Amino acid sequence: MSIRLETERLVLRPMEARDVESHVEMMQDPGMAAYLTPDGKVRPRMDEWRGAAMLLGHWQIRGFGFFSVEEKATGDWVGRVGPWKPEGWPALECGWGIRKEHWGKGYAPEAAIASVRWIFDQFPDLPRVISLIDPENANSQAVAKKIGEEKSGEVFELWGLRLDVWSAGRKDWLARFG
Ligand SMILES: CC(C)(COP(=O)(O)OP(=O)(O)OC[C@H]1O[C@@H](n2cnc3c(N)ncnc32)[C@H](O)[C@@H]1OP(=O)(O)O)[C@@H](O)C(=O)NCCC(=O)NCCS
Repeated sequence: MSIRLETERLVLRPMEARDVESHVEMMQDPGMAAYLTPDGKVRPRMDEWRGAAMLLGHWQIRGFGFFSVEEKATGDWVGRVGPWKPEGWPALECGWGIRKEHWGKGYAPEAAIASVRWIFDQFPDLPRVISLIDPENANSQAVAKKIGEEKSGEVFELWGLRLDVWSAGRKDWLARFG
């Protein structure tokens, strides 16, 4: 696939088979698993392999999905950020996950702003982009605020959790970041 987004420090491209090992490895960290697995615990590699396969399959089924995020300076795979909308999702989401050793560099918001811009460009009728965030996930809430999302007041139930729906409306978002 020839999609390629570039930011000041990052390159975003569709997640591919060659990224599966990096994704599996990223998810072996308890800090990553805390808000990305059903029980918040690190899952065995075989389950994470299946999880990564689902992210690749999302591209096949929907024609869009998570971007692999690479650091320009080193070429390192630093995480995955981007759009997805699995069955049953309340709206098109922009999600994020950055390898623990790269936290705090502002990579998630940098990649997410490029992703949301791409989403609004690809889907001209889409009124808003959402992010589903656990009320205790302060890091993710910080990212949502930095990219211009606000808590909508809606709640989405997943895995027995009540996730807040953060959202950014097309018009306001494009006026600020477009
Ligand atoms: C949420 C996440 C993507 C943020 O990525 P990031 O590239 O570090 O984003 P930022 O650099 O903007 O940091 C966001 C916040 O994380 C916190 N943070 C940054 N570095 C940190 C570190 N080393 N340890 C703990 N928290 C840290 C800070 O509160 C920061 O907010 P601030 O800049 O206002 O101080 C990353 O923490 C992550 O992958 N977490 C696990 C997966 C996850 O929760 N995904 C979202 C599910 S909704």
